[in-house]
Amino acid sequence: MCYSIPGRVVSIDGRTIIIDYFGEQRRAVNEISNLKVGDYIYAQGGYVIDAVPDAEAQEVLALWKELFFELQERDQHLSGFKRMDKRAGDRLSLILERIVADEEEVAEEELLYLLNLEGKEDIARLMQAANYLRHKHLGNSCCIHGIIEFSNYCRQSCGYCGISARNKGLKPYRMTPEEVVKAACEAIDKYGFKALVLQSGEDSAYSIDNLCQIVSGIREREPALIFVSCGEVGLPGLQRLYEAGARGLLMRFETSNSRLYEQLHPGRRLDSRLEHLRAAFDMGYLLITGGLIGLPGQTREDILGDISLTKSLQAEMYSFGPFIPHPGTPLANSHSPAAAEVLKALAVARIVDARNAKIVVTTSFETLEKDARRQGLSAGANSVMISLTPDALRREYPLYPDRAHLNESLENQISDLLEILSDLGRAPTDIGVSHTAS
Ligand code: 5AD
Repeated sequence: MCYSIPGRVVSIDGRTIIIDYFGEQRRAVNEISNLKVGDYIYAQGGYVIDAVPDAEAQEVLALWKELFFELQERDQHLSGFKRMDKRAGDRLSLILERIVADEEEVAEEELLYLLNLEGKEDIARLMQAANYLRHKHLGNSCCIHGIIEFSNYCRQSCGYCGISARNKGLKPYRMTPEEVVKAACEAIDKYGFKALVLQSGEDSAYSIDNLCQIVSGIREREPALIFVSCGEVGLPGLQRLYEAGARGLLMRFETSNSRLYEQLHPGRRLDSRLEHLRAAFDMGYLLITGGLIGLPGQTREDILGDISLTKSLQAEMYSFGPFIPHPGTPLANSHSPAAAEVLKALAVARIVDARNAKIVVTTSFETLEKDARRQGLSAGANSVMISLTPDALRREYPLYPDRAHLNESLENQISDLLEILSDLGRAPTDIGVSHTAS
């Protein structure tokens, strides 16, 4: 987004550099070969997007300086944790006190206790502790990704998914590679997006060559961090897409419970999904992954397993959203979870990966809960996505029904988001990278 702050390079160690933003330091992956200490850059999602000429950086920094410290103060004020007297404390207070003090690893059984909280006030205290940790370790940085959903064809039949091959009620669409490149370049050039996700169903009509043509077509024209999200393209396909310039993979494993996975994905295995994710990480991809919350038959133990699996995959970003039943699927008569289940999962993800995690507030959560962005960002999350899919096509990508923001122009979506971020004191300094393949 046009909403971003340049940082100054303070050290370079191979592909890893340290960047300073008004005295705060973040790590990022750099592939710009002639970058020197002292140069200014834009980074997003832990990846250096572009070098910025000194004069331009000074100008932008001068505009941001006052506002940045104002935002920092607002966030500090909003992310306090009210300490209790430990001796008088109940079990929740005792656990949260230890969590905010980063004293020792939180036991699995305690994390489960947190996911099992039911009372409104208790959940609010859990969110407060998670928000405190987010602020303590990652400051008020936030990241914004744009997503372009370029085809709603899918050969898979995932039991929950509205664009599954089984749903015959869809009006199919495919953007041509040229249309995708054009939409991406406009998002970067006109609106200032720096990180983009290119998503589609598993659509055999696009060969790996076509997908590579899209990725390289964007990267040759504009600086950006490109995530691909086109399902399981095979390991050679992933390698070719990396060579074409993709640096991120968005692919959820959906559930860490292999029995549930196989029920929901006929003929497919969780292991092969995980093999894809692990191989992508080893190739150098930044991973966004996670699962669905509230699937029929899923337990809170499963959700905790999902969070732990995301951490063990060294995901750069946690993507957890509610399952919302779609009428054109076999799960049409199931129920969505309560918003509190999502908030608890976001908060526990923050606790499990306090120092590193980028945690996104998903569009599915915004569909379930109008105030999802404010609530999610106040429960440990620090990232959001905006749909850049052309307006006329967006309603034909119904992963779930009544998707949020369907009738909002991009300009409105951006201005609403900036208002929320400003209210919460969040600034567009990069959060930094946490895991990279050696
Ligand atoms: N509810 C919520 N999320 C869904 N997705 C697919 N169907 C649904 C649904 N009914 C999510 C999946 C997939 C992503 C593209 O969309 O988790 O990974």
